[in-house]
Amino acid sequence: MWYLCVFYHRLLDYRRAEVESLAELFGAFEDDNGYDKEKKSLQWRVPENHHPDSPFHLVNLPSEDVARNIANRSTLRSHCILVKGIYELWGEGSSYEELEESIRGYPEERKCPYLNSGSTFKITVDCFGKIISFQEQTERIKGLAYIPFKNGPQNAFSFRKNEAVEEGERVSGYWVGRASLRNPDHNFWLMETDDYGTNNGLPPIMQRRIFFGREVGCADRKLLPTYQLKSRTYLGPTAMDAEMAFLMANQALAKPGKLVYDPFVGTGSILVAAAHFGAMTMGADIDIRVVRDGRGPDCNVWSNFKQYGLPMPVALLRADNNLPPWRPGLKEVFYAIICDPPYGVRAGGCKSGGRKLLRGPVDRYFYANVKLHLTWKSTNILNTDNLQGRLQSTRILSP
Ligand SMILES: C[S@@+](CC[C@H](N)C(=O)[O-])C[C@H]1O[C@@H](n2cnc3c(N)ncnc32)[C@H](O)[C@@H]1O
Repeated sequence: MWYLCVFYHRLLDYRRAEVESLAELFGAFEDDNGYDKEKKSLQWRVPENHHPDSPFHLVNLPSEDVARNIANRSTLRSHCILVKGIYELWGEGSSYEELEESIRGYPEERKCPYLNSGSTFKITVDCFGKIISFQEQTERIKGLAYIPFKNGPQNAFSFRKNEAVEEGERVSGYWVGRASLRNPDHNFWLMETDDYGTNNGLPPIMQRRIFFGREVGCADRKLLPTYQLKSRTYLGPTAMDAEMAFLMANQALAKPGKLVYDPFVGTGSILVAAAHFGAMTMGADIDIRVVRDGRGPDCNVWSNFKQYGLPMPVALLRADNNLPPWRPGLKEVFYAIICDPPYGVRAGGCKSGGRKLLRGPVDRYFYANVKLHLTWKSTNILNTDNLQGRLQSTRILSP
């Protein structure tokens, strides 16, 4: 079934990849349901007249459970980072007249279970690319009167600034019950994008589109402030931004019982994200001061895990990835390798040993059983082509 997937307007190239990884995590490709099992990719569309960079995408998912899990990822106490919400789309149009026609045409049997008087609901108005007043939001909601919600004190039409609405107060002809605003059974969203051309920062070729849908899952980015770098105990000059680290851990399908390895561990930001998702972690770095000492007994990679109450890494190694410490033939140790290799001048790559040792070709490689995720291709110290041929089911991500 097709769902409306609304993204945060950030890290555009990573958005579909994150959803596809989480779809895989939640078994979307396991059953014979018409998906490309090899590529593990989903079908995507953008709404009419929308640019591929649009925050609004339509995605075909096998079930509502998969859609809900992707947006909430609640079963693994974690969250999809770039998805704002996933919705069952009841209608869309480039005008409110078209929207009405579309909603009226949506199958009754799909709408009915959510319209009965025994359940509470809430409608929220959200705009993308413009701000509309409280008054305008009220008008928009009044315009949805043709949807046969069963009125009653249990039901609620709400607005973002619903503080002004008192319990039992009749707003625009609809009863409002405060309790159901806080914890409604069903959340509906009216989402509107603006026309491009009013200097609103939207990508080109986006024309006004209005969507109305039932929320299936809604993201919670609260974990990002918790893990933000400015409150991290041990920081280095190239510590990985928390949002990117969580995104990578999601794409590596980090989950309980799996071992995730970061061969360029630095201050451990990527492993912290993987540990949050329940994975066991292990890291290595060429710099002994990083993995052994940090800035003292209470300020090191270990204390970054302690700070969030996460299980400690199973090991931190001092190792040069040019001369990895694995015995030949070692296979299928790691479920995922996630790393942020050195780049540029500030954090350039290093190699151990004298000139003689370093002159020959790099013919060592890592073994992992599932995935390799890289943010930067760093072929001088980590030959990714070499790696790809030797890993099972490898997917390399690089911007
Ligand atoms: C970009 S930083 C990684 C930062 C890390 N993601 C964090 O959040 O702190 C790259 C790291 O790779 C390490 N490094 C450089 N060359 C290496 C090599 N040949 N083998 C292993 N580690 C290396 C550096 O010491 C540095 O800590």
